Amino acid sequence: MRCESETFLVYLLNMEKRNEKMSKTAVKIIAVLAAILLLLGIIAAFLLTPRRSPGYADDTWEGQKSFDINEITTLSKEPGKDFKILAITDLQFDNPFKSKNQVKADLAKMVNYVDPDLIVTVGDNFAGIFNHFHVKSFVKLMDDLGVPWAPIYGNHERDFSADLVYLGQQMQKSDLCLFEIGPTNIDGVGNYIININEGDEIVASLVMMDCNEEVIQRDAGGNRVGAYYESPRHSQVAWYRDNINAITEHAGRVVPSILFTHTPLPEFKTAYDLYQQGSNEVTYIGGEGEVGGGLIDYGLFDAALELGSTKHMFFGHEHTNTLSLRYQGIDLSYAVKTGNFSTYRDGKTGGTAITISDGGAITYEQLYTAEMQG
Ligand SMILES: [Fe+2]
Repeated sequence: MRCESETFLVYLLNMEKRNEKMSKTAVKIIAVLAAILLLLGIIAAFLLTPRRSPGYADDTWEGQKSFDINEITTLSKEPGKDFKILAITDLQFDNPFKSKNQVKADLAKMVNYVDPDLIVTVGDNFAGIFNHFHVKSFVKLMDDLGVPWAPIYGNHERDFSADLVYLGQQMQKSDLCLFEIGPTNIDGVGNYIININEGDEIVASLVMMDCNEEVIQRDAGGNRVGAYYESPRHSQVAWYRDNINAITEHAGRVVPSILFTHTPLPEFKTAYDLYQQGSNEVTYIGGEGEVGGGLIDYGLFDAALELGSTKHMFFGHEHTNTLSLRYQGIDLSYAVKTGNFSTYRDGKTGGTAITISDGGAITYEQLYTAEMQG
């Protein structure tokens, strides 16, 4: 028989072996968990890291002398036939947890109804931390419609400091996309012009302007105290003047133009307030909604008044707003919010049909897909 001290020694030895075995198992488990965490970290970094453009050539704007009519994208209008534009806005494509079927069906319905020569997107085309992926889904969505499309940016393309040049270059891979990075020494990305021509004659110009980013207001301690949305800035207004003046000179007359920018100008709010007061300075055209409008006036509306070319301005951004007011001879309108991504008003989503007729006459119609046949 073993003595008690021998039994205790064996017990200790066994316990030591068990501990050794357990600690080896624990090390293995920790190593596997660490490897899984590392792999998840690499995948997260790959998914979340905003993509950066490898670079692009400087396109310096030096006033009206930089204008070259041959560098402007031109689309053809047949004499006697209307040129039709479908304006869509605020798709905020494409939340991976939401079905794309509704927005695809809405777009198909509107394209079928309008039969557009061009689709203009009035910003916030995609949104979120994955914009470098959303842009590719957006390009496919647009290309599948089989119509040339001209986008501008809103505030949401900038989400999580996305690189607007990178996003633009992804869109430019599409043969149907007319997006241009635009001059690199003025504010914003994607300021460009499209001319609608009958032969060599410019019938109308489309002025596509970036709205710049949301401005966060902070106190002395760096705490957020407010925010406001921007509009095209002084450098862009100068670029607008240069282009409109040069087109006027080239054509020998003032050519009608349509301005597209995402956030409504401060003058839309002025017009809305006057309209609410019953002022006869404003004419109600249609739609409904309370105008937010920009906070800072950089002079774009005044430049349009002075030059006399732009009589129609279309905005997005305020998803439930479909209002259209005429103020000082300029129609200020919201393009109707498109699709069911992000906030929307039931029965009031769709787009806006804009028609350019012979002589550059411009008319438009708000489209609500819930009211459309087919
Ligand atoms: Fe917006």
